[in-house]
Amino acid sequence: MNGQGKTFYITTPIYYPSDKLHIGHSYCTVATDVMARYKRMQGFDVLFLTGTDEHGQKIEQKAEAAGVTPQQYVDQVVAGIKELWKLLNISNDRFIRTTDGYHQESVQKIFKALYDKGHIYKGAYKGKYCTPCESFWTESQLKDGKCPDCGREVVDAEEEAYFFKLSAFADRLVKLYEENPLFMEPQSRLNEMVNNFIKPGLEDLCVSRTSFKWGIPVTFDPKHVVYVWVDALSNYITALGYGNEQYHDFEKYWPADVHFVGKEIMRFHTIIWPAMLMALDLPLPKKVYGHGWLLLEGGKMSKSKGNVVDPVVLVERYGVDAIRYFLLREFPFGSDGLFSNESLITRINADLANDLGNLVSRSVAMVGKYFDGTLPAERQTEPLDDEVTSIAKSLKQKYEAQMEAFAFQNALIEIFKLVSRTNKYIDETAPWVLAKNEANRPRLASVLYNLLECVRIAGILLTPFMPSTAPKIFEQIGADEGITGYESAGTYGLLPANVTVHKGEGLFPRIDMAKELATLGASKEKAAEKAPKQEKKSAPVKKEQPVEGVASLITIDDFAKVQLRVAKVTACEPVPKADKLLRLQLDDGSGTPRQVVSGIHPWYEPDVLTGKKVIVVANLKPAKLRGVESNGMILAADAGENEVKVVFVDNSVPCGSVVR
Ligand code: ME8
Repeated sequence: MNGQGKTFYITTPIYYPSDKLHIGHSYCTVATDVMARYKRMQGFDVLFLTGTDEHGQKIEQKAEAAGVTPQQYVDQVVAGIKELWKLLNISNDRFIRTTDGYHQESVQKIFKALYDKGHIYKGAYKGKYCTPCESFWTESQLKDGKCPDCGREVVDAEEEAYFFKLSAFADRLVKLYEENPLFMEPQSRLNEMVNNFIKPGLEDLCVSRTSFKWGIPVTFDPKHVVYVWVDALSNYITALGYGNEQYHDFEKYWPADVHFVGKEIMRFHTIIWPAMLMALDLPLPKKVYGHGWLLLEGGKMSKSKGNVVDPVVLVERYGVDAIRYFLLREFPFGSDGLFSNESLITRINADLANDLGNLVSRSVAMVGKYFDGTLPAERQTEPLDDEVTSIAKSLKQKYEAQMEAFAFQNALIEIFKLVSRTNKYIDETAPWVLAKNEANRPRLASVLYNLLECVRIAGILLTPFMPSTAPKIFEQIGADEGITGYESAGTYGLLPANVTVHKGEGLFPRIDMAKELATLGASKEKAAEKAPKQEKKSAPVKKEQPVEGVASLITIDDFAKVQLRVAKVTACEPVPKADKLLRLQLDDGSGTPRQVVSGIHPWYEPDVLTGKKVIVVANLKPAKLRGVESNGMILAADAGENEVKVVFVDNSVPCGSVVR
């Protein structure tokens, strides 16, 4: 196993407990969780750390406004954050709060050590301060006179303060980046750091404040509290027991394998943090990965902008695994991505309900239907099997290459190539046709076995992304624990030949997009009514614009989602009180008659259609037309103004044949 005997230390940023967290915050934590689970699955001894960053003027002000002490304020919000991580199935091993006693003790020691070594000196601070970001800026760093990170107003600040000699580390930092080109990723962030911060000249950093109290006091000068970023960044080592007796695994886990952070806090993690560690003579983290932002139409989601998407609501409506999947499948991890309810629902319907969910339920249902749930041991393989089985066999290796590069989106795309190809294999092999002839039993068993194996391999590799769905998949396809570990994904054919399946619940119900958007729209308006006036004024939620034109071209994979089959009209009659409608009974080769309602009565009398072969869209969501259920639609051409011609197929083509 890749990870046997090795450690893997991974962190998220520690979150400000200012308000409720939004889906943008969940993005990083979910990604970190997926990576932690993946590494555990590979046998690594993983430490996954997250937590909360609880000091600073902003919290002090919020608590005051709420009429509580800062500690009361953070206690309450942090409880909610912990609940959210539970809801999102986050498997963090530790949770650090910067108000934890052991952390405060360590930060005091770190500050004193830096002072004693001469890296911190006392001076006077004159400059600009962005209160929401807790960031000091020099005049030259401001953008249009505003905070370059968030674009908000800054205030003049002047006070006696301690400074960290950051300027002294510029050369060592440049050397670090040159010698370790993978220290920060994606690569684009490197230019940003060097051009924007190092080249203009690093200035010493103000690392204490006297104008508010809610922070960790400097032991040797207690009217100062430690600058919140020095306090916060230290969490990555204090949580291992550096400078305290709470934990004892600093030697074991440090340096961190990777810090996952949002792109706007790269600066702190790739300049200040390594400089602090250099000053303390400690090893540097192996990598800092700066992921992109989730955006709404109006810009980055943020509490202060008001355009918040509540992860709790999303999880309650769609389920945790659908949200986890969406976050990592929809957007490349290193880039920004536009969040919309439409894209979320489309993803769930197309990938999870149609592709994955259908594959699992059809495979299991067919083993139930044709073999009473247990496959016989007889087999008959055919060259047709080779493509799908070879994709399954090489999947683990391809997936691993992507996961190692933190390319979550690509890893999922690889898995879903197998899922789609396996669905296509069902159509190619048409098990319902094979099932008609007893002599085909060995062939049918081979086909169904291949389906289950492909599902097993996909399921294993999906486990870090979908920790609650994967076990359900394994249960349904009869894969026990011994063959669902990471290594088992690299071997084809581990399910027992006479495997028994267990039909279960559908994994991902399809969502009715129109209805759902209407409901979400209504609840958004309600929420907007409830929102405090001040927030509404400063941050209107912009309505998303429909994207025009993009739907006109589809890929071959999109087309492959439409299942077209040849079917014979076995009976046909008008639908009472509906001039245009005919009710058709079809034999689509599946063994179960299919009823379709079609608006072709103006052009066809029932007896003309009976006995003819037509093409039916077999995976269309059932609908009711004038109260009569319709399971699919038959293809017809608009042959001119007010003229419709049904597409008939030659009678020699067997029912159930795939049209593509
Ligand atoms: O920055 N999309 O805390 P924080 C993607 N306490 N990521 C987003 C996002 C969005 N819309 N909004 C926020 C802090 N984030 C500090 C960290 S670490 C020693 C101290 C991400 O609560 C953001 O990029 O403001 C950051 O990485 C994380 O959420 C925490 O943000």
